[in-house]
Amino acid sequence: SKDENGVSQVVLRSPRGASARISLHGGQVRSWKNERGEELLFTSSKAIFKPPAAVRGGIPICFPQFGNRGSLEQHGFARNRMWVVDENPPPLQSTDHSSGNAFIDLLRKSSDDDMKSWPHRYELRLRVILSVDGYLTLISRIRNVNCKPFSFSFAYHTYFSVSDISEVRVEGLETLDYLDNLCNRERFTEQGDALTFESEVDRVYLSSSDAVAVFDHEKKRTFVIRKEGLPDVVVWNPWEKKSKAIADFGDDEYKHMLCVDAAAIEKPITLKPGEEWTGRVDLSVTASLY
Ligand code: BG6
Repeated sequence: SKDENGVSQVVLRSPRGASARISLHGGQVRSWKNERGEELLFTSSKAIFKPPAAVRGGIPICFPQFGNRGSLEQHGFARNRMWVVDENPPPLQSTDHSSGNAFIDLLRKSSDDDMKSWPHRYELRLRVILSVDGYLTLISRIRNVNCKPFSFSFAYHTYFSVSDISEVRVEGLETLDYLDNLCNRERFTEQGDALTFESEVDRVYLSSSDAVAVFDHEKKRTFVIRKEGLPDVVVWNPWEKKSKAIADFGDDEYKHMLCVDAAAIEKPITLKPGEEWTGRVDLSVTASLY
């Protein structure tokens, strides 16, 4: 099918009615719905769907740079470019294979345009799996197909939809060190128990455990983020003032979103010629038990 701007997109469906929609623009997951048809990812009502800018919401892929830590455009170029579908993808690994699991592989290879700003030859294969339970897995494999090494950072910039940010709690980041983007990336140590929100947050938590949970009290819903190959976790909410400065974001929308990204930022990944890296995130959602 096509998206709002005529760009091709792919829809995965689970046998029980969950779905995920992925656009070739940016290889971006644009929608993830549970079996009741409820959207789980935030998309701004002011989102601009015209390429090249990434759409404000869903799961943009930040590669080969996170944020403005480097000479490239903010969050790198992968989210702005067109990807292609691999019509003959390798089969699911046995651990991911279960009847009823749907998947798609999208590819992005360095173009001459990319080479001007980032002179490295890479192949990026993004596999999106919608499990029979309606859970979403993203696996990125990045291969160095050139004859010199390169380094990159990476993030699944995941915009979760939440009912009311002031009722949201994030667990799994306690006691970790983080870099605070609001304080020149100064390093602090998380003191509190769970993370709650009452002002702008823009942090990179370092070397987190492999699971982080987002509790949405009002919707009585919990997201669990499990990750492999991605040590860091970005937590971002622009809050009131910053929201007004973002053109493709509504003034009050910060109340209904929270970005929690599985990422590799503090220590860039280096690939030698021929080497491959894998970064994986598994997103599940459950009704909270309280
Ligand atoms: C977050 C960054 O991940 O993304 C923030 O930590 C940034 O600093 C935000 O403002 C949004 O970025 P963009 O480029 O999508 O507006």
